[in-house]
Amino acid sequence: MKSIVILISGRGSNMEAILGSALPLEIRAVISNRPGAKGLETAAKLGIRAIGMDHTAYESREAFDEALAKQIDEFKPDYVILAGFMRVLSEPFIKRFAKRIINIHPSLLPAFPGLHTHQAAIDAGVKIHGATVHFVTPKLDHGPIISQAAVRVTQDDTADSLAARVLAAEHQLYPQVLRWLAEGRVDLKSSGVVQITGLNVRSERRAQLLLVPME
Ligand code: GAR
Repeated sequence: MKSIVILISGRGSNMEAILGSALPLEIRAVISNRPGAKGLETAAKLGIRAIGMDHTAYESREAFDEALAKQIDEFKPDYVILAGFMRVLSEPFIKRFAKRIINIHPSLLPAFPGLHTHQAAIDAGVKIHGATVHFVTPKLDHGPIISQAAVRVTQDDTADSLAARVLAAEHQLYPQVLRWLAEGRVDLKSSGVVQITGLNVRSERRAQLLLVPME
């Protein structure tokens, strides 16, 4: 069975969706760079090893990343899953776990990388917004896309209402992608494009698009 370590920074609702999905994956630990993160409590209650590593206690980004990498290595996971982990990771860290770090980002990349994605989507007037699960590469929010979930943007949306709709989609999207990973079906081609093996047209429509229906 493949194994993962999950990195969080706060609430941990994506982590909770993953833990609650009965995936055929061994979840070896949850680590937060903020020791007070609510998600750590949730993980501990569910019997998962929960570790706080305060990044402010380290003298540099590289020093924290080195300590984090060592901690992760103790668990020997196949994948490192970023679920609301709000720190930029340094290049040595990303190279150390090359092709094994996965992130969820709250926009349809390559649109709206970075922060404040929901307000940016509203300001740009887009009608469809969503979330992306992708492999992490040194260029922030630009790695190979594994899957995306889309939601409608309504005319009276605020950043908060849109964030809530996207988050609900994230909670479907991330467990789905991790199931594919667990099944060894995520194929990262040398071109940088990801294909999911074994999806037929019907299941692709259902699983790959994951479009939250238009009402
Ligand atoms: C999620 O919306 C996730 O996509 C986003 O933070 C939120 C975490 O919520 N991640 C990023 O913005 C990464 N740059 P959660 O802690 O409840 O899962």
